[in-house]
Amino acid sequence: MTEKQDIGALVEVLLQTRRVTVSTGAGISAESGIPTFRGQEGLWKQFRAEELATPTAFTQNPELVWEFYDWRRGIIAQKTPNPGHQVLASWENIFPSFSLITQNIDGFHQKAGSKSILELHGNIWKVRCTEEGTVTENHEVPLTKIPPLCPACGALLRPHVVWFGESLSPVVLNNAFQQSASCEVMFVVGTSAVVQPAASLPLAAAERGAKVVEVNPDPTPLTPYANFSFRGKAGEILPLIDEELKKAFSAKKD
Ligand code: OAD
Repeated sequence: MTEKQDIGALVEVLLQTRRVTVSTGAGISAESGIPTFRGQEGLWKQFRAEELATPTAFTQNPELVWEFYDWRRGIIAQKTPNPGHQVLASWENIFPSFSLITQNIDGFHQKAGSKSILELHGNIWKVRCTEEGTVTENHEVPLTKIPPLCPACGALLRPHVVWFGESLSPVVLNNAFQQSASCEVMFVVGTSAVVQPAASLPLAAAERGAKVVEVNPDPTPLTPYANFSFRGKAGEILPLIDEELKKAFSAKKD
């Protein structure tokens, strides 16, 4: 075991930590059975993102884009959060200040019980009217009409997600940078750390002196900057850290 993989050493740090921020990507939902984007079986290995996840694609073929999202909603609807999501939900009650930022649109962090989540790329269970901009929840699986239309004005609805070439919500993004720049420990779980601006969040944390903890079976461009780097699955590593942390907390109380 290298120093970077020492759970005991990490727990020592966490015992002294009040402010924790976690940033998650598709890898945290992989063990729930949700495909990631860039792995061997990744979505962007099977499909062309330009044809399915850009504003131009939607303008040219809203039906095709909606079929893709309807298919993904169908997969997500049949799956459930895993122990990785559950541990993060429980950490909300452990650290005096805890924030969770995700690039995922599957809604699994909410389902696992996390209350406050900054969803950088939106949520697949929300739709937005292309005319009025109204955002509503929609859990219909499969959709009865593709493409779906706004019940209020009849205009096209679109998934309330961020596509390539689109900007993230400035409010959500500012908040995410603030939470990253002000934490003492930042966990980065299950992201290839190549998509901006999410990939810059842990760097903002590191610049301000936070310790960066990466959980990922594979190395990423972030790995050289990480103080701790656990090469494994989120659903296994996070429960291990959690177990040691809770043991250490109760030993401290005794
Ligand atoms: P990627 O598919 O790029 O990366 C997933 C990461 O998860 C990889 O680094 C894997 O090694 C890792 N991984 C796989 N299984 C894991 C497990 N069980 N536990 C922990 N890690 C695991 O997904 P993201 O980084 O989330 O955006 O992708 C970022 C954005 O690119 C997505 O939000 C999406 C995509 O295009 C849009 O659609 C706008």
